[in-house]
Parts: sequence; structure tokens; C-alpha cells
Amino acid sequence: MLKDSPAPAVFEPANAAPQPVSSVPAAAGATVAAAGCRALPTAGPLAGKVAIVTGSESGIGRETARALSAAGAAVVLNGRRPERLEATRQQLEAAGATVATCLADVTDYAACETLVATALAQFGRLDILVANASISQRAYFLDMAPEVFRQVLDSNVYGAVFPLKAALPHLLASRGSITFISSISALNGMPSGSAYCAGKAALTNLAHTLRLELDGTGVHFGVVHIGFTENDDDKRVLDAAGQPVPIAYRKPRWQKTQAEVAAIIVRHIRRRRQRTVISALGWLIAIVHTNLPRLGDWVVLTSMRRLRRFYE
Ligand SMILES: NC(=O)c1ccc[n+]([C@@H]2O[C@H](COP(=O)([O-])OP(=O)(O)OC[C@H]3O[C@@H](n4cnc5c(N)ncnc54)[C@H](OP(=O)(O)O)[C@@H]3O)[C@@H](O)[C@H]2O)c1
Repeated sequence: MLKDSPAPAVFEPANAAPQPVSSVPAAAGATVAAAGCRALPTAGPLAGKVAIVTGSESGIGRETARALSAAGAAVVLNGRRPERLEATRQQLEAAGATVATCLADVTDYAACETLVATALAQFGRLDILVANASISQRAYFLDMAPEVFRQVLDSNVYGAVFPLKAALPHLLASRGSITFISSISALNGMPSGSAYCAGKAALTNLAHTLRLELDGTGVHFGVVHIGFTENDDDKRVLDAAGQPVPIAYRKPRWQKTQAEVAAIIVRHIRRRRQRTVISALGWLIAIVHTNLPRLGDWVVLTSMRRLRRFYE
């Protein structure tokens, strides 16, 4: 879809005005969660729970919504593109999921209030927030327009902070769970990913701070550091001028499937883990950069010379 759109100076979605969209009536085998609300599924380890997954019209977010549904949760899907959001809703409902949708840009706080209000209006409660929406980049800092840096940083920081801020009173009431979807590149710097890495790293500290501030409330704050994962064919990231471009090449054998990653995210939520690092490569990066940072830098600098396609 992006390939055919006229290229904006800084990428903007076609339609991001918040719009809660109701979905089909309750599925068979469901119970009513609250007066006037749709019935919740009754089977599965997450039966009776309601989740919001931001940026779930595509990619890992969509597969996480699918996996949460398979575990019995009702899910509010979110994205900025009406057709893709609707297509995802239809796909998941055809597979038996109980879902609603909310078209909303999660860097807009008012839109996040609408997103949370959709979960409450449709399902009567909120237990799980997966802050997954994100824009990534393929641009060296020196070349990046300041507004592009801000756009990538905003999507990764405020795109997680605003949904959480709107959802927190309800997560406190349900002793619920928030998971920030991060990256192994938050564990160390990654050339051509300055704003993305900075934004993802900020989430680790935010989660830690909130864990301390809200100790004893029963709310789970977790971070999942994802490694290389298969991407939707139409996934785009921003270049230095803010143009959407395909993601840099990754060898398929280095990548996990979206379904594998989604299953790990659901396990992380169910076990209320503080930190999950996905893949052996992720752990290697974490260990080397913590204990042998010079060796870590040498590996990255060498790979920059030998594997330019990986970064550019
Ligand atoms: N794929 C990987 O290899 C990998 C590796 C490490 C970490 N991750 C993390 O995993 C998560 C999912 O990545 P992905 O690969 O599935 O990417 P993706 O396919 O691009 O999915 C991201 C989704 O977020 C949406 N989004 C972005 N900004 C938004 C906003 N302000 N409001 C609402 N929706 C917004 C995007 O919609 P638009 O099309 O409208 O922008 C898109 O639907 C991200 O947090 C990413 O950083 C992925």
C-alpha cells in the first residue's frame, strides 16, 4: 500500500482519527462480562481477560493478537489504516477470535483514551496492554532530518507511554499486565537505528521505574526484547528524509516466524516476566555488551564494514 502512495516528506498515515469500531456479536460459548458489553470467551488460560494490542493490524502485533485470542482473551485491535485494520479483524474473527477494533494513532493521547474506552465499552474491562506499535528507521543520525528523528522516537516512546497512561487506572483495577515490545537493539546501540534504539532503551527504564513506583499494586510491567523476525512484505521503515523504505535485508535463517515470537510474548505475559530476551543471538548480545563491551563494539564495527546491506 505504501509503495503506491505519494511520498510525504515525513511519513504520515492516511487516516489516523480515532474511531472505535464495533464488531460482531458475542461468539457461541461466551459469557457476558459486564452489563451492556459483549460476552467474553470462556475457554483457555486467558478466558475472561481483555487485551489491547497496539499496532496489531499487521506483523508481530497481529500475530500476538491472534495468539492472545487463541489463549482465550478478547482483544482490541489497533492501527492507523482502516482497510488493513478491517482485513485483520475479519481474518481473526474467521479464526474464531473475539475482537473489536479502534483506529487510532497511539502518539495522540486523546486517541489512546478512545482506544481504552473501546475496550471498556465493548468488553467491560481491561487486563492486558501490549505496547507494540512502532516505526523503525534505516538512516544514519548525521543524515537524519530532525523531524524524522522525532517521529521515530515519538512512536516508540509516546506510542507506548500514552496508551499506558490511559489504560493504567483500569490495569490497576484488574491487577493487570503491560508489556512493552522492544528489540535486542535496545540492549546496545545499532548503527542506522539511533532514534529507534534510544526509544526502545527508554522503555526498559520506564518499566523499571514503574515497577518501583507501583510496587504492591499487582500490576505486571514487562519488556520483551525481540530479535530478527520475519516481516510482512509491505513493512516499511523511514529513511533519513522520512520516506518509507523496505527494511534492510536479513538472512531468512536468522529470523524467527511472527507466530513463534507471538507465542513467546503470550508466555511472557502469562508468566508475568519482567524481561524476556528472544533468541540465542539476543542473549549473546546482552551478555557480550554487558561483560565485554569492547568486543561487542568490535563485532558491530567489523560487521558494518563487511555487511553494509545489513544496516543500509
Ligand atoms: N520485525 C522484527 O524483526 C523486529 C525486531 C525487533 C523488534 N521488533 C518490534 O516488534 C514490534 C512489531 O514490529 P513489526 O515487525 O511487526 O512491525 P510492523 O509490521 O511495521 O508493525 C508495526 C505496526 O505498528 C503500527 N504503528 C506504527 N506507529 C503507530 C501509531 N503511532 N499508532 C498506531 N499504530 C502504529 C504500524 O502501522 P503503520 O503501517 O500505520 O505505521 C504497524 O501496523 C515493534 O515494536 C518492533 O519494534 C520487531
